[in-house]
Amino acid sequence: MTVDVLDVATTTLTEIAPAKINLYLHVTGRRPDGYHLLDSLVVFAGAGDVLHYEPGTEPLHLKLEGRFGRALGADAAGADNLVMKAAAVLRDLAGPQANVQGGCLVLEKNLPVASGIGGGSADAAAALRLLNRAWNAQVDEPTLFRVAETLGADVPVCLLSQTVRMEGIGETLTPAPRLPECGLVLVNCGQAVSTPDVFRKRTGDFVPRADLPQSWPNSAAMVATLKAQENSLETPACTVCPPVKKVLADIAAQPDCQLARMSGSGATCFGVFPTVEAAREAADRLAEAHAAWWVWGGALV
Ligand code: C5P
Repeated sequence: MTVDVLDVATTTLTEIAPAKINLYLHVTGRRPDGYHLLDSLVVFAGAGDVLHYEPGTEPLHLKLEGRFGRALGADAAGADNLVMKAAAVLRDLAGPQANVQGGCLVLEKNLPVASGIGGGSADAAAALRLLNRAWNAQVDEPTLFRVAETLGADVPVCLLSQTVRMEGIGETLTPAPRLPECGLVLVNCGQAVSTPDVFRKRTGDFVPRADLPQSWPNSAAMVATLKAQENSLETPACTVCPPVKKVLADIAAQPDCQLARMSGSGATCFGVFPTVEAAREAADRLAEAHAAWWVWGGALV
């Protein structure tokens, strides 16, 4: 097949940045540089930001759109945005065969910002995947993961965007148990939460890494394992953002809800349900009861 060069240059490319959910998150220790060592089972949801790229001759720039992008405003689309930082590091690593272009990146921010479900990290990871492809940069996978780590602790796991066990400060990714069919609800109360603030507020002992099976026969069995784990950041997040308690109680009160827990450093909380349909129904009820909350229900990716 021959491809018209003009077509390639004007094609808009798209990459999804799915929401990351920590089904449990243990703070297992602390590095000398202050970063916390974690053990977490990470999954990704069918909800996500969407990154579009239209190559062009003008210098590369970023526009923010979507429910949460417009709220951030133009200032958030500058060189400090993790998407632009990802583009800059990829440009430096691109091989001699690469066709590094300018143009416009449009980030549709459908997920609440600073909310414990990936956000900027997922966007940065999507930018690495998308521009590596669009520019034919041919940066190999180990290098991409190394670069991801320099952009943020959660960027490597978001680069993978599939169910995985995450350890170290986020850079050690190993196979996770096979997940059973289940549905997920995500709820955010609308208050942005600073990750360093939550880590600073954490007190108490470190928690050992979890003992996980190879797979679970159904979501009830998975939830039984998850209930023996915790999110070590949930209690400190409740002091930084008290509405998290109400969100957790309202998710837990939904029919068929098997587990209600916070993701990452918050404030987004999730509910596990036996089916996608049960999760969607719970999400509809929660959205109706709380118009100001961001609510999503559906399947894992
Ligand atoms: O790496 P990232 O910029 O996403 O992390 C934000 C902040 O969260 C860090 O500066 C650190 O204070 C805290 N953090 C941590 N341990 C981790 C990840 C993040 O202490 N594993």
